[in-house]
Parts: sequence; C-alpha cells; structure tokens
Amino acid sequence: MDDESVFSDDELKEDRIVNLRPKYFKEYIGQERIIDNLKVYVEAAKKRGESLDHCLIYGPPGLGKTTLANVISTELGSNIKITSGPVIEKPGDLAAILTNVAEGDVLFIDEIHRLHPSVEEILYPAIEDFKLDLVIGQGPAARTIRIDLNRFTMIGATTRIGLITSPLRDRFGITLRLDFYETEDLVTIIMNNAKYLNTYIEEAAAIEIAKRSRGTPRVANRILRRMRDFAEIFGKGTISFDIVENGLAKLEIDHEGLNKFDILYLEAILKKFKGGPVGIETLSATLSEEKEAIEDVIEPYLLYKGFIKKTPRGRIITERAYVHLGVKTHGNLQSIEDYLEDDGKS
Ligand SMILES: Nc1ncnc2c1ncn2[C@@H]1O[C@H](COP(=O)(O)OP(=O)(O)O)[C@@H](O)[C@H]1O
Ligand SMILES: [Mg+2]
Repeated sequence: MDDESVFSDDELKEDRIVNLRPKYFKEYIGQERIIDNLKVYVEAAKKRGESLDHCLIYGPPGLGKTTLANVISTELGSNIKITSGPVIEKPGDLAAILTNVAEGDVLFIDEIHRLHPSVEEILYPAIEDFKLDLVIGQGPAARTIRIDLNRFTMIGATTRIGLITSPLRDRFGITLRLDFYETEDLVTIIMNNAKYLNTYIEEAAAIEIAKRSRGTPRVANRILRRMRDFAEIFGKGTISFDIVENGLAKLEIDHEGLNKFDILYLEAILKKFKGGPVGIETLSATLSEEKEAIEDVIEPYLLYKGFIKKTPRGRIITERAYVHLGVKTHGNLQSIEDYLEDDGKS
C-alpha cells in the first residue's frame, strides 16, 4: 500500500514529470463544473477541522479519476492509501486496511464496482459510523466485536456507476461525474505537458492532437509522447502540424479521433448486422473482445459523438457512422449491399 503524500516537493515534481499527473486543483484542467463545488467542500471541511464526506468519482477510463483522488488528498493535506475493488478478496483484507487508516486519511478504492459482496457488507458500518464489526473465532464460540476506526474519507472510482449497489451508492455524500474534455482543455493539457517533457510543440499541432484524443487526457498524453518520438527522428525535435498529421496516420487514428478498434466495431455492426440492432454479447463474440472492454473503452466515446445509439434491442449505428464509413455521402445512401460487395466479404 502506498503512502503517497509523504512525498517531498522534489518527489512531487518528479511524479508530475513521469506521470504528467497534476497534484493540485490549479493544475487540474477542465471539469470546472465539478471542481468549483469540490473546492468549496474541501475548504469547508478543512475550516471545520473535519474529514471530507466520502466521494464517488465516475466516468470512462483516462478522464482523471485517479488524478482527482490524489488532488483531493493533497489539497486536504492528507495521506492517501490506494487499493482497488478486486484486490480486496476477503473481509479480513479490508479490516487490515481500515485498522491502518489514520485520522483524516484518504482511502482510495479504485474499481469499486468490483468489490466482493462480503467485503462490501463490512464496509457499510465502516464508512457510515467509522465502526468495524469483526467476527472472532469459529462455530459456536464465534462472537462479534465492534472496533472504533479513525475518521477517514473514502474516495471510490468506477467506470460503471450502474454496477454500484444502491446501499453503497447512498453512503457517498459527494458524487462526481467526469465528462469527456473540450478540445480547448485538452490543448492546455498538451501544451503544459510538452513543457514538462521538455519539447516544443506548435499550437496548431497541439490543437490537432486535442481534436483526435477522444476527449481523453490519457489518450492526449499518449499521442503527445509518440509525436515527440516522431519529431525527434523525422524532424528537428519540434512537434509541428505536419509531424502530427503524418504521425497520426501512422498510428491509424482518423480525423474524428477514431482508432482501428472503433472502426472495426462500427464495421462489424454495419457489415455483419446490417447496421443493427445487435446485442452486446453477440458483438463481443463477433469482435473477440471482452464485453467489459467494449462497454468501458469503445462505446462511451462513440455514444458521446453520436456514432451509435443504444436501443432496448441492442446497438445501432447512426447516420453519422454511415457517412464516416463512406457508405453514405451527402445524404445519398448507397445500398449497404453495394458496400458489402465492394469489400468482397458479405
Ligand atoms: N484534469 C486533468 N488535467 C490535466 N491532466 C489530466 C487531467 N485528468 C487526467 N489527466 C492526465 O491523464 C492521465 C490519466 O488520468 P487518470 O487519473 O489516470 O484517469 P482515470 O483514473 O480516470 O482512468 C493522468 O496521468 C494525467 O496525466
Ligand atoms: Mg484510474
């Protein structure tokens, strides 16, 4: 278990460079709607000398959930203990963690939707009353003892709010939903991080990366690092617009920021299921991809961008997807059969 905020200033800076991970509110770009409120809650808790209410952060991967948990803890001046749902196998594992949490600590549980039900059960009194009910011994000699815990703030993160049981959800005082980022926020993130990476990037190049990053800082950072490689090998070190245009083509990222998995997904619905509707199980089998990966990673952005819709009978692709895949141009739908024959595998 990490004790992150015992870092010295130098170490904080090092972490900022290696992981490009903001540590303070002022470095956390975008998401103003939730950050503004959060600043108030943190400030008020500090003023009262109390621990912050438990927070649930949700949203697709790479939008800054883990980063935000760390920022909250730094801003509270607390230590953060980090664990994740699937790692806590037995109630005893959670008991060991909880009894080691100091007054005012932040306990971050990533992938909290994957907590085992027996573990979740003992978490309820722990987060509600800061009490732990432990069963000692076995059989007829077994008895329950109640232990007082230090007051702490639990921060849960999940990509799947729908999988959180309602008793657990009800115990969070603060719920934060992260949205995909606006292009201009991603530009700021990219320009800032280029500085940390000691690289020069043209603004036009940063804008192009931002537009093609699926609204996701983690994707923007990954593309930035690859473009830095291309700039060093094929250019003079500066990340120019041309370097980015060519580099993104090499990475098979198209003008809407869709990658080859997105295209495979859309094409599967188009070609194998005539545009849908098709159920997630069937799609998962067709694409040989885990259902969870499809639902967590691929679909949220396609839904957000309006390439697909979810209907009670399954997924369908929208007009926008037809146009993007080149089946429909300027409002004239060529027949899907033509499209399929072109490809020679109908
Ligand atoms: N609001 C933000 N401002 C600046 N960088 C961010 C922000 N959110 C995320 N990042 C960057 O994106 C990366 C991925 O974020 P992370 O917190 O790991 O996402 P998640 O936990 O939601 O999957 C971080 O390492 C950080 O560099
Ligand atoms: Mg994370």
